[in-house]
Amino acid sequence: MLMQVKKDFIDIQDWNEKEILELLELSGRLKARPIQPLLIGKTLGMIFKKSSTRTRVSFEVGISQLGGSSIFLSEDDLQLGRGESLEDTARVLSRYLDSLVIRTYEHREVEEFARHATIPVINGLTDETHPCQMICDLFTIFERRQQLKGLKVVYVGDGANNVAQTWLFGAALMGMKLSVAAPPAYWPKSEAVRSAVKLSCEGPRFFEATQDAVSAVRDADVIYTDVWVSMGQEKEKEKRLKDLAGYQVNEALVKAAPREVLVMHCLPAHRGEEISAGVMDADHSIIFDQAENRLHTQKALMVKLMENRSQNPESRIQESE
Ligand code: CP
Ligand code: NVA
Repeated sequence: MLMQVKKDFIDIQDWNEKEILELLELSGRLKARPIQPLLIGKTLGMIFKKSSTRTRVSFEVGISQLGGSSIFLSEDDLQLGRGESLEDTARVLSRYLDSLVIRTYEHREVEEFARHATIPVINGLTDETHPCQMICDLFTIFERRQQLKGLKVVYVGDGANNVAQTWLFGAALMGMKLSVAAPPAYWPKSEAVRSAVKLSCEGPRFFEATQDAVSAVRDADVIYTDVWVSMGQEKEKEKRLKDLAGYQVNEALVKAAPREVLVMHCLPAHRGEEISAGVMDADHSIIFDQAENRLHTQKALMVKLMENRSQNPESRIQESE
């Protein structure tokens, strides 16, 4: 019998362009017909060490729409919080669950969990990356533009955070262009840029970092932003708000961009800090469609990861009439 190698979803670049496009295609089919009995009897575990609205709720609703169930586990509920090792926890939970989402601080914890688990492990956000957000963002752009290749995303604000770093690899992988508009201390790490450049079919031309947000957005297809103070950075709040004050996505910045530009934000947003309330609610904004798409894309991800390959459940999807 052939052993099946389990697949995890820890970083966007662990999957190739073809696999991501397949995921987007499946997301579209599940969005068109949301209730599908593809994961009956499957259970998703969810360990969250940080707060969440979208990730938690969309995974819980998503697995239930697919016929499965979920168990939400905060660190305090688990013996992990009292010193049981990650390795033992991963090995034991693998005996009960079919997949596990982890949201935590240190990226290496997710990697270690995945190393010891025999079930697919999904990164629900770490200090370094947020790949579930990335598939949602790619799907949302594709839905509007029917293409990804060649499009230019301008990421304004904290270009060194988890969402920005994931964008670096996501854009490279999908043949998009990425411009980070931020003060130099908030540009992505050069080591990450070097690795992303290797992935991009455009080479070094796919990426630029600049302090001039207005020039960067002149040919933007998408303007993207995220909070200036991510979870775990609360002590740096005062400094960050001061450093990034000139990088708000507001009406003046959007005016400098092409008329059809799309404005995105992974949420939660701090209206009046990284984005003005007016821009969030204006026609350019696709932010709430983007939030909805977390549900559809994570359902696709769960089907891809938990499917019993011998039964090929994707072929059992009922299409809309
Ligand atoms: N965008 C996102 O991951 O939101 P939550 O923190 O609410 O899950
Ligand atoms: N950069 C933000 C993203 C929240 C979804 C954070 O880590 O808090």
